[in-house]
Amino acid sequence: MCSRLNRVPPFLRGLVKPSSKFGRLALALMLLVGVSLSCLGIGYIYGGSGAVEPYLFKSHLSQFTLATMTYDARLWNLKMYVKHYSRCASVKEIVVIWNKGTPPEVTELDSAVPVRIRVEKRNSLNNRFNIDPLIKTRAVLELDDDIMMSCDFIEKGFRVWREHPERLVGFYPRYVDQTMTYSAEKFARSHEGYNMILTGAAFMDAGFAFGMYQSDVAKPGREFVDEQFNCEDVLLNFLYANASGSAKAVEYVRPSALVLDTSKFSGVAISGNTDQHYRKRSECLRRFSELYGSLSDRRWEFGGRKDGWDL
Ligand SMILES: *[C@@H]1O[C@H](CO)[C@@H](O)[C@H](O)[C@H]1NC(C)=O
Repeated sequence: MCSRLNRVPPFLRGLVKPSSKFGRLALALMLLVGVSLSCLGIGYIYGGSGAVEPYLFKSHLSQFTLATMTYDARLWNLKMYVKHYSRCASVKEIVVIWNKGTPPEVTELDSAVPVRIRVEKRNSLNNRFNIDPLIKTRAVLELDDDIMMSCDFIEKGFRVWREHPERLVGFYPRYVDQTMTYSAEKFARSHEGYNMILTGAAFMDAGFAFGMYQSDVAKPGREFVDEQFNCEDVLLNFLYANASGSAKAVEYVRPSALVLDTSKFSGVAISGNTDQHYRKRSECLRRFSELYGSLSDRRWEFGGRKDGWDL
C-alpha cells in the first residue's frame, strides 16, 4: 500500500526491522511519539469524540464514517488505527472492510466510537466502495490502516470536503498526462498541478461515490480492478472526472509533515515491487481512459486555496 502513496518519511526508512519483536516495539513507540508530536497543536494525543463534542459547522453538527479495508495479516495496524482515529472529534463510526481471513472480535479493538466489521464474501479491492446502507453519514473518509496522521489534519480535510461535498477530497495528489504513465507525487509537483487524489486517504460522498462505482457503466472498470488486483482508486478518479464534466472533481489538502506509514515495515504491502506496481497503474490509466475519457486535459494548480491548505 505504501508504494502506492509514497508517503514514508525518508528519515524513517530502514530504521527498524518489523520482523523482530524489538522492531515492532520501536515502531509502536515511534508512532506514538509521531502522533503526539503532531497533535501538540490541539494539546492531546487521544483527544476526540470520547472527550470532545463534534463542533458546529454552518449551524449543524456533522460527522463522518471512517472506513478502512484490511485483512488478517494487518490486525496489528488495525488495533493502533482504531485506538487513534476513534478519538478524533468528527468520527461517528468506524467500518472495517474485512477482505480475507478470520475477522477479529470487535471487543479486541479499543475504540471510543462504534466499530463495525464488514466481512466481505470475496477478496476484492472493489469492496472498498461497496454500497452500504448501514453507513449513517453522508461523508466517508477512506483511510488506509497503515497511515497515521493527527486528528487535526483529518478535521482539516473534513472541513474542506464540507465546502465541496461533490468532490473527492484528499491528501495524496497525482498528475496524469497524455503519456498515461503513472508517477509519484513529485511529478505532480513538478507540473504544478494534479488531476487525481488517491483514495488511501480521501473524503467522499458515500451515496454519490459508491453508487457511481457500483453502477452498470462502471462494471468493465471494476472487472479490470479485479484482474489487476490494483487501481480501485484510479477508477474512482476517472468516474468522478467523468461525472463532473468540466467542473473540478478533486481537491487536495496538504497533510502534516508527520504522516507515518507502517506498511514499509510490516512487509505485507500489496505491492512490494514499485516498478511492477507503477506498470500496473499505467495500464489502468490507459484502460480507464478508453472506457471513461481522459484525465490529462484537466489540471488543478496547487496553492489555489485562500487558507493555504493546499500548498
Ligand atoms: C459519465 O457521465 C455521464 C454524464 O453525467 C453519465 O451519464 C455516465 O453514466 C457517466 N459514466 C460513468 C461510467 O459513470
